[in-house]
Amino acid sequence: MGDMPGNIFSPLSTPAREIFHLSWLVLAVTGGIFMVVASLAFYAVVRYRRRKNDDGREPPQIFGSNQIETAWTVVPVLIVLVLAMTSTRFIGRIQAAPRPPNAIDVTVVGHQWWWEVRYPKLGIVTANELHVPVGQATWLTLLSADVAHSFWVPRLAGKTDLIPNRVNQMWIEPEATGLYVGQCAEYCGLQHAKMLIRVYVHPRDEFDRWVKAQTETTPPPPAVSSGKRVFESNACVNCHALDGTIANGRYAPDLTHLMSRATLAAGAAPNSPETLRAWLKNPDEIKPGAHMPAMTLTEDQLNQLTAYLLTRR
Ligand code: CUA
Repeated sequence: MGDMPGNIFSPLSTPAREIFHLSWLVLAVTGGIFMVVASLAFYAVVRYRRRKNDDGREPPQIFGSNQIETAWTVVPVLIVLVLAMTSTRFIGRIQAAPRPPNAIDVTVVGHQWWWEVRYPKLGIVTANELHVPVGQATWLTLLSADVAHSFWVPRLAGKTDLIPNRVNQMWIEPEATGLYVGQCAEYCGLQHAKMLIRVYVHPRDEFDRWVKAQTETTPPPPAVSSGKRVFESNACVNCHALDGTIANGRYAPDLTHLMSRATLAAGAAPNSPETLRAWLKNPDEIKPGAHMPAMTLTEDQLNQLTAYLLTRR
């Protein structure tokens, strides 16, 4: 179970570890309450069940006992107070953590239903994937382009909402390399469930190589220029950005390095030539309600466009 990629009980980053400790306290307290209440309810059900010789009368009723009413008011208030104050202390400590000077800055913008990921200082724009170095803090600035979303990668940190017209911050400091998965944790419309996020934690040199690959744009071979024409002469360019073309949209994911990503449509499908072609043909087949319309391309155009996009690594 420790290997499950989204396991909340297997933290591998500073804020997630603290939240994990807090969650044990909350689980212990609420688990204790559950045991007491469930045992009493079970006892009452068994002990006072209807019997053959029941006379059908109600048992004596108790009203206005100050002791009982005080007890069942004060005890829950104390429990809630302890949990609230402990949570507040944890939240305060996580939020007050100073930003280390070498932290990586990432801006994440929530969209219906995908994640825009920008590295302002590195000049990188990608989607649905974060790449970060291990053992180093990454500072996230969270924004929303439409409705409220929530960024949640359980093994790295707690949830933080992305809210329109508001700037939220959070941070992660992963301790081990690997792939960490997460998802949008705030209902945001039809495809909320297919708004998945992947965080790749790399050794430093591997991260540097990723940065280099993302900042270089190699011109596509001329053999695929017919696909580029299909791309540029359709509505694709209104929403997408793609270096080396006229497309400069911000409404949909940047496609400059499309094939460097593992999934299509925020995790709705693996990013392979077949799924890419199927996605271009009819996005609704893969992600019903996705805001990308079917462009009603001919089979030839589909092949050309797919071939062109496959060169975007
Ligand atoms: Cu975005 Cu739910």
